[in-house]
Amino acid sequence: MSRARRLLAAAVVAKTAGIAYAAWEAHQYRLRRVTVPALDEGAEPLRVLHLSDLHLTPRQKGKAAWVRQLAALEPDLIVNTGDNLAHPDAVPVVLKTLDPLLDIPGVFVMGSNDYYGPVWKNPARYLLPDSGGRILGEPLPWKVLRDGFVSRGWIDLNNHDADFKVRQQRIAAAGTDDPHLGLDRYADVPYRAPEHGVLRIGVTHAPYLRVVDAMAGDGFDLIFAGHTHGGQLCLPGFGALVTNCDLPTSQASGLHVRGDAWLHVSAGLGTSPTAPIRFACPPEATLLTLVPAD
Ligand SMILES: [Fe+2]
Repeated sequence: MSRARRLLAAAVVAKTAGIAYAAWEAHQYRLRRVTVPALDEGAEPLRVLHLSDLHLTPRQKGKAAWVRQLAALEPDLIVNTGDNLAHPDAVPVVLKTLDPLLDIPGVFVMGSNDYYGPVWKNPARYLLPDSGGRILGEPLPWKVLRDGFVSRGWIDLNNHDADFKVRQQRIAAAGTDDPHLGLDRYADVPYRAPEHGVLRIGVTHAPYLRVVDAMAGDGFDLIFAGHTHGGQLCLPGFGALVTNCDLPTSQASGLHVRGDAWLHVSAGLGTSPTAPIRFACPPEATLLTLVPAD
């Protein structure tokens, strides 16, 4: 074999091994734990489970089982930042998967993949400036999913607010519908001034700065988002190359500061079925323990 052929063969083997590894990593679910000093002085710690971007299909038994066992954590509150679906028949699977978690107080917003089914996209488009155009798959039965969540007590924060108590902590929450599809109407959500003893949380699917920074400017304590998949294909030692929105890549996942607010971005639990790979960015759920800021 010539030197050129050996090099070509080596490149093919390396590429195949890389794709095989990335397909394996996409199933290496992990629970990330983070402490957030977001409560007022004297408040009891509050444990919040952040779920995002399940992108569930009926065949993904392993992911469903992993998510179901998270109920054993017994969190005080669940925040679901959307993109639950990845198949027209996935609603019953999502509701069954989340069944034990739906007994726990929760809030949710929708992502674009709750509204439209997966469709193949050229990966190169994620590296180019966002033209604003969206390639949408077939409409999904998102109303059935929404009604399933609401019937169990989870609060719909799509362009809505809510004021409720979890244990002894009063929470003022506000959310938007998906900014990636331009469905966010944050200005229409009633404004609530910061108040001592009240935790203010903002919830949105895609962390576009027009939403995140508006919430931060309004005095929210903690903002939850998903959508980025943490970059999905990351460079070891460097991190995310894209966020699929205008959030800086340095904030593609994890806990960050925006103005006076905390921003938590989940790297999410899934991928589109058309690109079932992750690299240096394993799928995750996050358990946030909120404690007094002092
Ligand atoms: Fe997603």
